[in-house]
Formats: sequence, structure tokens, C-alpha cells
Amino acid sequence: MEKNTYPVEEWKVTEEKFVKDWNYRNETTFALSNGYIGTRGTFDEGYPFTVDEGLEGNFINGFYESEHIRYGEWNFGFPETSQSLLNLPNLKKTTIEVNGEMFDLKAGEIVEYSRSLLMNEGIVVRNVVWKSPKGKEVKATFKRLVSLADKNIMAIQIKITPINFEGTVKFSSYVEAGVENHTRKTNPLVDYGPFGKHLVVEELKSDEDYILYQGETKNSKLSMACGSVVVTDGHMTECVIGEEDGHTSYEVYAEEGKEVTFEKMIAYTSELDMPKEEILPFIRAKLSEAKVLGYDKYEALQKEKMDEFWSKADIKIEGDEELQQGIRFNLFHIMQSAGRDGRTGMGAKGLSGEGYEGHYFWDTEMYVLPVFVYTDSELAKQLLNYRYDTLDDARDRAKVLGHMKGALYPWRTINGKEASTYFPLGTAQYHINADIAYAFKLYLDITGDDQYLIDRAAEVLVETARVWADVGCFAECKDNKYCICSVTGPDEYNAIVDNNFYTNLMARENIRSAMWALDRMKSLDEDAYNKLVEKLELEDEELEYWERIINNMYFPFDEKLQIYPQDDGFMMRKPWDESKIPEEKRHLLYENYHPLFVYRQKMSKQADAILGMLLHSNFFTEEELKRNYDFYQTVTLHHSSLSTCIFGILASQIGYDEEAYKYFSQSARMDLDDMHDNFYAGIHAANMAGTWQGIVFGFAGVRSNTGELTIHPKLPEQWKSYEFCVEYHGSDMRIKIEQGKVTYKLLNQVPITFKSNHEPITLNKEGEEYVQEI
Ligand code: BGC
Repeated sequence: MEKNTYPVEEWKVTEEKFVKDWNYRNETTFALSNGYIGTRGTFDEGYPFTVDEGLEGNFINGFYESEHIRYGEWNFGFPETSQSLLNLPNLKKTTIEVNGEMFDLKAGEIVEYSRSLLMNEGIVVRNVVWKSPKGKEVKATFKRLVSLADKNIMAIQIKITPINFEGTVKFSSYVEAGVENHTRKTNPLVDYGPFGKHLVVEELKSDEDYILYQGETKNSKLSMACGSVVVTDGHMTECVIGEEDGHTSYEVYAEEGKEVTFEKMIAYTSELDMPKEEILPFIRAKLSEAKVLGYDKYEALQKEKMDEFWSKADIKIEGDEELQQGIRFNLFHIMQSAGRDGRTGMGAKGLSGEGYEGHYFWDTEMYVLPVFVYTDSELAKQLLNYRYDTLDDARDRAKVLGHMKGALYPWRTINGKEASTYFPLGTAQYHINADIAYAFKLYLDITGDDQYLIDRAAEVLVETARVWADVGCFAECKDNKYCICSVTGPDEYNAIVDNNFYTNLMARENIRSAMWALDRMKSLDEDAYNKLVEKLELEDEELEYWERIINNMYFPFDEKLQIYPQDDGFMMRKPWDESKIPEEKRHLLYENYHPLFVYRQKMSKQADAILGMLLHSNFFTEEELKRNYDFYQTVTLHHSSLSTCIFGILASQIGYDEEAYKYFSQSARMDLDDMHDNFYAGIHAANMAGTWQGIVFGFAGVRSNTGELTIHPKLPEQWKSYEFCVEYHGSDMRIKIEQGKVTYKLLNQVPITFKSNHEPITLNKEGEEYVQEI
């Protein structure tokens, strides 16, 4: 079968024809979100896809259902209830009848078809010319947006033009509330459930042009409300409200060649945002406000928000349009997926599908957050606030794991509590604690936001550090070095290992950051410092112990190869022989082999030790980085989408330019070209963000791990130039790299100091430029 590809366009992703088999994946490509509401790219008029062909999906970030988890063999500390992002009532559906014939892509003839994601406008537009079975031709244009200006709003505009007839056009606007999550049926590995309907109707009614719904989840007992209002010149001809579904119909008379317009405003909210009794009145009020504004106003506001976003986040590449499209697609999706109310995080799949049950992982902090820290620090702060907001849950979790002090963040979660059910690949990934600490520190380093350090960051850094000081010990058999046993590093093909290199390194730096934060806080605001010390009952001995850990952290080292093995046992494992694995099973090891078989092989699923070395490259010589890169290059299978981008960045740093470009190219178009063959279940947010990192941290060599901003720019030989912006301590700077030179330009009035190829540079005035030869 022909491959699904999109034409290469700078600011668009276009589906040029409708092919049923490509639908599931296209639903993710055209998924829209604003970090609060997420909706899949399904058709407004509906289409009867089977469970393997499509998934209607509408979500509210943070809104989940729980089920009691039944374990075959239960142990203390296993999470007892699941959390799944719940698929919510669909209000997009609007059927269209032209002179009594239903507009239906299955029937008649599709004369013209195109659907585009307009990445600079933040909308999806579908144009169809359709000929009915009886020969009537209509032009239909569907526009959709999920508002970045108002988190509760989704807006739809449909225009119908009769081409060769005149007559009535009937629009029927639906609510479909008998919804079920269903990814599990097609992807049992990553999804737990829940099975069946989980939203119980509390109220469903129509009120003039409004349809209003309120429902409550069966187990998590959370209520949500949603509704729609139409804007039309037509008159209502029908209103049918059932137990879980309903619709209202409107008829308009359309003359030949003249378009008629039908608009629909949709709103969602939940009791996570306001008292339960207010949610339905809130929806009603929101919709009446939206009705007055109308679709075009929301589209204009959307454009403003998109302009704001792109003015800082865009990366312009001259010389490779395919990669240009890939990077923008990736940036668009991560931007729209991030929770921005301080109460919600960002799912590994954003809000684009049910994959991974909508859970938040380390993907946010290690992959996505660095992008926002440099391009939209306010958004980055909101994601950090979510972690601060759930610090008490992390404190409780630490106790469950036997740590009397500190906080242990969950590996998978929505509400802040641990939701991973397979602890060797879940809770054992303690590194999430250090990853979150890393993100807080990065935010502080890049923004210089001292108030945030005082208000929130220091507390998180200290509480996460405390767990590291408790989980390990100074082991006599390892020269009294500090060892951390029985954890899983980022690499999910080696579980419950001793002294995972990445974990030990990140733990040490977590503790170092905590000490730095306390010192800095003391010098900035002694009062606040004393209060924190009192609140946390922090003792001097604790800090002395931390210092000992920092100076004596153990790292596995292989004398012969002069490299850092991923963990103590890594070099003992069986050499991986892929030829023994049938080709069709090679990418699906967990589906075809027992985990123990996988854990015993000397190979990795994804970047692990080298990620640590990249983040803290200031502690390693270039020779060390090269030796380790060369080694991990031979044992890493890149079965996780989080891997290639990291290899690409390190390859760039050590001068392996060809490999860097190869890895970067794979990451940049991974989702657009569906390289992992699972895009239908949702985006790979981490890799998408990894593409931005590939350019900025990779080719441009931007680093902050020495306490200052340093840049080592290179131009990939395939490109003519590339440019991007960074925010640093309140300054906005544009960096353009061309053949033989780099140009730095200050975009606002906050002076900036940094080093480019070791040369100190200061830009003082808005518009000031500095050109350096490279
Ligand atoms: C990766 C993890 C990642 C998760 C969610 C897994 O396949 O191994 O590192 O956090 O996917 O993206």
C-alpha cells in the first residue's frame, strides 16, 4: 500500500486525499489542543470508523478516571488505583444534509479533498468538493481551533456552497456522551483502561441554541461539564435530547453558488477548576460570551497567540524544507500540549490521544521543559508549578518507599500520585526525582528568577535531594563510595540495577543544586531561608552528609575500555545478537520476550549514561565523551523515541557531524513520517522537543552547565543558514548561523553577556548586533 506522506510545505501539513487506512494516524496529526482541552482530528460530520481505524477523542488535561488495580501478586506500596485521562463527550459532530441527502464521504464522490494544519495560525482547515449519489455538488469548508486565548473554548466554522443546485441545507449539531476509552483494545501494552463507560450523566439538556451536559466519573468522582452553542441564520427544526446523546437541527436555504455558514462554539470545564455547582452555569456563561464573539474573532486571537509563540520559538532553516516542516510540526504540537495553569502537566502524548493513559513522565522535564525555559519561560514555570503543587503527594510517596524524609516523585501520574503498575520500569525509575530537580535548576539558571527560588524551587530541590541521601550508602566494598542500588535508569531494557551511572550522576547534581539553592536563598532573603529550614526541619548534619555524598559518589568504570558502563552489571550481560531475533519481533521485544530475557542482554533501549554525560558535559573531557559515545553507539537500539535526539546532540558536541545530522533528521521527522508506527496513539512529545534541542544544544552548542551561557555554533553542511531565539535572564537574543559567521542580535532592552567560542560578548542595546567568524 502507498505510504502516507504529506507534501513538504513550510508552515503547513496537508493531507491531500482521504484514505481510510490513514485516518487513525491523521487524527493525531490534526489533533488540536491548548494545554487544557485536547481534541483529535476526527471529522465534524462523523465517520463510522472501527476501533482499529479511528478514535474520537476529547480530553481535559488532568481529568481522569480511576479503577481499582488488581494485581496477581500484590506487594506493599503498589499503587492501588489507576489514573486514565478520560475520553469525554464529543460535541464536534455536525451532520449536514443537502436537499435531503446526507453529506457523507463514504457515499457519492469526493471530487476534491484537502485538510491542512496551518501551523502559523493554529487552526485546521478541510476543503471538500463532494458530489452526492444523486449528483448534487457542494463545496464544504471546515475550520477548527482550540483556543489559545481562552482555555475553555473550541470553535468550529462550516461553510457550505451548493455548486449545481439550490435548496435547503440542514445542520444537526450533536452531543455524544456515551463515550468509552478504547486504546487498550488495540494497544494492550501501554494502556490499562478503563473499560466501558465511566461518565455518568448528571444533566443533559438543551436550552435555545445551547446543549449542556454535566457528568461525573464512576470512581474518581470528578464532575465535568461541557456544552455547545450554534451561530446560524437557520431556524431550528428539531431538538432531540436522549439519555446520553442529543442533537438540535437547523435549516437554511442556500442559493446556487452562495455559501451558507454554520458556527459552533464548544466549552469544557471540570470541578478541578471550580466548585462542582458552578461548572454548568460556567459553561452556559462561557458559551454565551463565545456566541457573541463568533468564530472569526477566535481565529484572529489565535493568530495573535501563534505569532507570539513563533516570534520566540521558531527555528528557521535555509536549505532543508523537509526538516523545516518537521521542526515546526514538532514545536507546534509541544506548544499546544503543555498544561499552563500550574495545576496540570504535560502527557508524554500531550492531549492528542489515549496513549500511555495520558500520563506525565520525565519526558516533560528532560525533553520539553528545556525548550520552554529558553523560549517561553512563563510556560516552563507553569509546568514546574504543577510539580510544586504535587510535592505533598511526593512526600507521601517517599514515606511509602521507606524514606522518612524528602519527596519521591511518581514515575507515571496525572494527579500527583504514582500510577505505574510495573515497578521495575515504573517506581524504580527514581531518576525522575533528579530530573525534576534538574528542570527546576535549569529554569533558575536561565531565567535568574530568584523569587521563584525562594518561593518554590529551593523546597523542591531540598526535598528531592533528601531521598538521594537516604536511598544509598557508603559501601565498604566500593572504597566507601556512595552507592545506589536497585533502581532503573532511563534505559528500560535494564531494570533494577545497581549504580546506574545516569542516576548516580543526576542524584549527585540534585544534591549539589539543593546546597546551592540553600546558600543562595540565605544570601537573598535570610528570613525566608530560616522559615524554610524550620519548615523542613533541616539539620546541619544533613548538609554535611550531603557534602560527603557529593565528594564520594560512586560511578561504575570499565578499566579496559575506559568507559562508564551503564550500571555495575552491564558488562557482564550477554552480548546482544540481533540475528537470533526474527526481524518482525526486533522492535517489539516486550511484546515477544519475557522481561528477564531482555534485562540479561548487553544492550540498551535508549540513551542513558550518555544523557547524563551530555547534561553535565562540563565534568568530562572530550576524549571521555567520545569513548563513551562510541561504546553506547554499538549497544543502543533506539527502541524508544527519546533516544536518537540525545545521541545527535552529543555527536554534534564531539564533532561527529555526519552522525549528528543523521540522528537529527530522524528525530525531526519521526512523527510526521510515523517512523515508530504508532503515531495513531498520540504524539511523541519528548522527541518532538528533542528536535529543538538537536539544533540549539546540538548544532549551535548552547550550554549553561558551567553557570554561564556558552555557545559553540556550527553550520551543518547541508544547510545555508539557521536562526533561532533564546531568552536568558530577561534578554531576548536572536542567533543566526551562516557559512563562516554567527550573528547575535539583542531583541529587547535587557543587556546580555555570554561566551561564543570562548569569547566573552556583551550586547547592551536593543537591536545591537555582534558578528563572529566561525
Ligand atoms: C520510554 C520512557 C518514556 C516513556 C514515555 C518509554 O518507552 O522508555 O523513557 O518516559 O516511553 O514516553
